[in-house]
Amino acid sequence: MKKEIDAAIQEVIDSSSFINGPQVKTFCSHLEEYMNAPYIIPCGNGTDALLLALRASDIQQGDEVILPAFTYIAAVEMVASLGVTPVLVDVYPDTFNMNTEHLEQAISRQTKAIIPVHLFGQSCNMEPVMKIAEKYKLKVIEDNAQSLGADYTFSDGTVKKTGTIGHIGTLSFFPSKPLACYGDGGAVITSDATLAERIRMIANHGQTQKYHHKTIGCNSRLDTIQAAILDVKLKYINSFTDARRKVAGDYDRTLSSLPELKIPTSSPFSTHIYHQYTIRVKNGRRDALQAFLKEQNIPTMIYYPLPVHEQEAYKWVARTSGTVSNAASLCKEVLSLPIHTEMTDETQRFIIENIIRFFRK
Ligand SMILES: Cc1ncc(COP(=O)(O)O)c(C=O)c1O
Repeated sequence: MKKEIDAAIQEVIDSSSFINGPQVKTFCSHLEEYMNAPYIIPCGNGTDALLLALRASDIQQGDEVILPAFTYIAAVEMVASLGVTPVLVDVYPDTFNMNTEHLEQAISRQTKAIIPVHLFGQSCNMEPVMKIAEKYKLKVIEDNAQSLGADYTFSDGTVKKTGTIGHIGTLSFFPSKPLACYGDGGAVITSDATLAERIRMIANHGQTQKYHHKTIGCNSRLDTIQAAILDVKLKYINSFTDARRKVAGDYDRTLSSLPELKIPTSSPFSTHIYHQYTIRVKNGRRDALQAFLKEQNIPTMIYYPLPVHEQEAYKWVARTSGTVSNAASLCKEVLSLPIHTEMTDETQRFIIENIIRFFRK
């Protein structure tokens, strides 16, 4: 893509339209087409997208929002930054996504929203989430930073892209994300015209007319250069997913017979785009495996080493609902193996051989 991307960047530089250039609109309309979503509002990054979603939903100090206890911190952080209490529920140990059977018991009079985070590339079970949200009149904000491109299938056969099922969805275009730019970038997705207008207004200093501020806003924009890069990459998004699925399939085939290791589980209702390939290592051997692979120059990551309620910043801010023991034990077992669109068979063979060697030691 280098030629295409270089040309797209050069075009922005030549035009000097660095802010709100035409490429921003073009990219958003192409993404709307891809997601089958009527409104995509660009913004500065995935964390801003979450803040905009919360602000537009009128979630305020004293309210509560339900989130998974095992997750990336951004959604919890934005909830807490508004003086709103994050209420944490457990996750399923096999898919790592929010346990929807625990949702109802987490609801109180203060609950205003649920934020399902589609972790590692596959969807939370959205049908029960939407049913519960409807019953209790709650907003659903999908944190789709890690799963752009995944499809969720409802029990009646309807298929929707993750991020387009709830009232609002959020995206990050951080360089490691499924659709990645050359810096920071994000977007908010909604099918509600009023919400879309509000999100756009908050992201633009709370104004719809220049220098007339209706609400307290912020400044969160997607740079034209980033939009131009994303517009090129969007054309290839399905091939990126195919490439990661091939890597995941090869790991599955070669690692599934190792008894001390659990390969990722795919949910029956979701496709998996393998943003991460996260295994679970049993018998307390995760850190030893990571150290062994590091010695062979094989990088791995622990997403995430602590559940939210054990984080210093959130210990006294967040509240857990029911048991969150899966979240706690996953933090001791998970290990994300290298996965990306340019992985060669040779590199992957080297990784796999070393994992097998560790367990045979
Ligand atoms: C699940 C999730 N939500 C939100 C974010 C925040 O995105 P950004 O880094 O663009 O602010 C990330 C990024 O790592 C993420 O993984």
